[in-house]
Amino acid sequence: MRIYQTKDYQEMSRKAANIIFAQIVSKPDAVLGLATGSTPIGTYQNLVKWYQSGDLDFSQIRSVNLDEYKGLAADNDQSYAYFMRTNLFSHVNINPANTNIPNGLETDIEMECSRYNNVIHALGGIDLQLLGLGGNGHIGFNEPDDFFEKGTHCVKLTEDTIKANARFFSSMDEVPQYAYSMGIQNIMEARKILLIASGASKAEALYKSLCGPITPAVPASILQLHPHVSIVADEEALSLIRKHRCL
Ligand code: F6R
Repeated sequence: MRIYQTKDYQEMSRKAANIIFAQIVSKPDAVLGLATGSTPIGTYQNLVKWYQSGDLDFSQIRSVNLDEYKGLAADNDQSYAYFMRTNLFSHVNINPANTNIPNGLETDIEMECSRYNNVIHALGGIDLQLLGLGGNGHIGFNEPDDFFEKGTHCVKLTEDTIKANARFFSSMDEVPQYAYSMGIQNIMEARKILLIASGASKAEALYKSLCGPITPAVPASILQLHPHVSIVADEEALSLIRKHRCL
């Protein structure tokens, strides 16, 4: 495991984008595993900037996203498909046909999960998986549990997540209750993993994930077993790890 400590969010975003840049340059048809959420936005902004300056080419890149809300269409502005278009895909020369996100409108859960596992396998697996970190240690929508979910699965969102999301919707009834997510095995099979974290609100989750026991109660703790993980995190996110000098 390699840890890159950065001063702040901006530096974290630049360093993470650098690692993705290196992946794209060394393998122009790489399969990128992508994440949504607030943490990767700055990383995507750097990639867009480097594309616009002519330093990056996404024309052969393939991508698979970690997750999507069940019940939301790709054009819903709260969907992860919409997030990816507005934050990355529509600003670079990636071929939309080469981008993959679980289909939030598919009601046959078994079919959608097996389709998505097959998509990942057909691409030959993920070269570099980008991950954000939940405040409770979740990765993708793999929430703390008694066991690690292996493949793509449908998750019932926690009450806290549903309440937190309610502010984006006009009524509680519209807030998605379920999401499709890659499982821990899908993530662990990626050849390389890049976990990014910023801010004091991630310090405890990062500390437990990297220094605590490997347990499904802290899903990201499984990353300790991956042979090629890079952590790019700012001082605040790494504060507890530094305080306890555990790494
Ligand atoms: C997003 C995802 C989530 C987020 C995590 C952190 O695709 O899978 O696991 O990475 O919830 O979210 P932010 O970055 O908003 O703190």
